[in-house]
Amino acid sequence: MIKVPDLAWLRFRAPDLDEMERFLTDFGMVRAARSEDALYMRGSDTDPWLHETRLGDPGFVGLAFQASSAEDLQAAAQMEGASASEPVSEPGGGSRVRFTDPDGYSVEVVHGRTTVEPLAVDHALPLNNGREHLRLGAAQRVPSGPARVKRLGHLVVRVADYRTSAEWYESRFGLIHSDDVYLGDPENVITAFLRCDRGDIPVDHHTLLCVGLGEPGFEHAAFEVQDFDAVMAGHDHLRDAGWTHQSGVGRHILGAHVFDYWKDPYGHILEHFTDGDLFDASEKPGLYDPATVLGVQWGAPPRS
Ligand SMILES: [Fe+2]
Repeated sequence: MIKVPDLAWLRFRAPDLDEMERFLTDFGMVRAARSEDALYMRGSDTDPWLHETRLGDPGFVGLAFQASSAEDLQAAAQMEGASASEPVSEPGGGSRVRFTDPDGYSVEVVHGRTTVEPLAVDHALPLNNGREHLRLGAAQRVPSGPARVKRLGHLVVRVADYRTSAEWYESRFGLIHSDDVYLGDPENVITAFLRCDRGDIPVDHHTLLCVGLGEPGFEHAAFEVQDFDAVMAGHDHLRDAGWTHQSGVGRHILGAHVFDYWKDPYGHILEHFTDGDLFDASEKPGLYDPATVLGVQWGAPPRS
């Protein structure tokens, strides 16, 4: 087993790269590279790209995790079902090992990518609140336009069998449980919010959910943006550009992040989020029912 520190990228297919680029630009990503048959979009952090669209019938192809070291990548290459380590031809390069998960999704592990310069981002000034006034003598002017995507945060997929999938990911990549979710009988766990194990370094409450309900398929992917104002200004930008809203804005209970869900031109749900819970490896998992998963602390509940 290796312990992956984070996701690296997601791969999709779509029949029209122009249309996909138009949406992803309004969603807040920036073109990293484009060829005749593939589009690579990045965020404002240092990852060379986060989202690939390859020409083809619309669909989700798979995900990639980062490896912490070259040794971890070599260890991944020794696992059951792994490819040999091979060079990555896409922007940023590096080396990768390929797998296919129990539902047929492509899973890659990558190490040694070159990072890129972070993009300058206009953002709102600090927020005053009832306890603390952090902004004095400065007028708040929230930048309009797309909510600049920083990084890839998490992925949710529906799978044929939750336990098979969870076991597959945990045993290879060291993912640990933040919260388990049951349906009816508490023994009937249908999914878990899985996070990366970075020891005493806090990480996102969840990185991957494999949901054992319904037909296997892509559920949604989430990208972190700067702050609450970015979520709201980005919402207005996507609405004014005519894209399809899915649900939000609200604050989840599990993970506690402020969320807003949109559909890409082919129906894939992408989420903006900010201000999520960050846990180190010592936090023990909870057990919740679906009403808690789909509930909100405030705002419009997610639709699934
Ligand atoms: Fe999400």
